[in-house]
Amino acid sequence: MVNVKSLFVGASVLISGIAAAPVSSDVAAPEARSLERRTFTGAASDPNNILENTYIMGPNYKSKGYTSATVSNLSGCTALYIWDKDFIPSVFHIFCGQERADGKAAGEMVEELGSQWWAGGAGISSSTPTRLKAVKDGLKEAIPDIRIINEEIYTRGEGDMARTKVTVAKNSNVFNEVNYEGTPTQQGKKN
Ligand SMILES: *[C@@H]1O[C@H](CO)[C@@H](O)[C@H](O)[C@H]1NC(C)=O
Repeated sequence: MVNVKSLFVGASVLISGIAAAPVSSDVAAPEARSLERRTFTGAASDPNNILENTYIMGPNYKSKGYTSATVSNLSGCTALYIWDKDFIPSVFHIFCGQERADGKAAGEMVEELGSQWWAGGAGISSSTPTRLKAVKDGLKEAIPDIRIINEEIYTRGEGDMARTKVTVAKNSNVFNEVNYEGTPTQQGKKN
């Protein structure tokens, strides 16, 4: 038989848990946000070879004195550039299927640096209009006021190894798209 007194104890524990929530939510928030970044694996070591799920953040680009950034190995993925007012970019290689979530995650990462890092607007190069729109929607969820100043759809060549890379020079918002043949994946490595 359930005892009424113990039910009361249970309820008051629950209530104090709720009352405590606002205090602990400050701590929980950054953790919850970082979970949304799950598909970005880390910073790219080479600004001219930004592969799947990697990025270069604007302050890093600036302090290392980079003069251009290239998102490479595109075959369906998306290149996202977010610029400061001098067109110093934060650059993201967004994996196919993750457009909305990673567009948002990228926006949050740049937003956390401060609004000067997105004051120049954003540019997106995608393989389809649907993917481009999903990145844009995700980005605008994170930064509603950001301007989208360059939208392009790239067309890669024929064949399994056909790849596109997108390069943008420092102080520019112009996409230079180049098609090339990728190298086959290493044996034993899954696509
Ligand atoms: C390039 O893209 C292909 C297809 O998505 C992938 O299998 C391969 O691992 C990528 N190469 C590198 C170096 O990331």
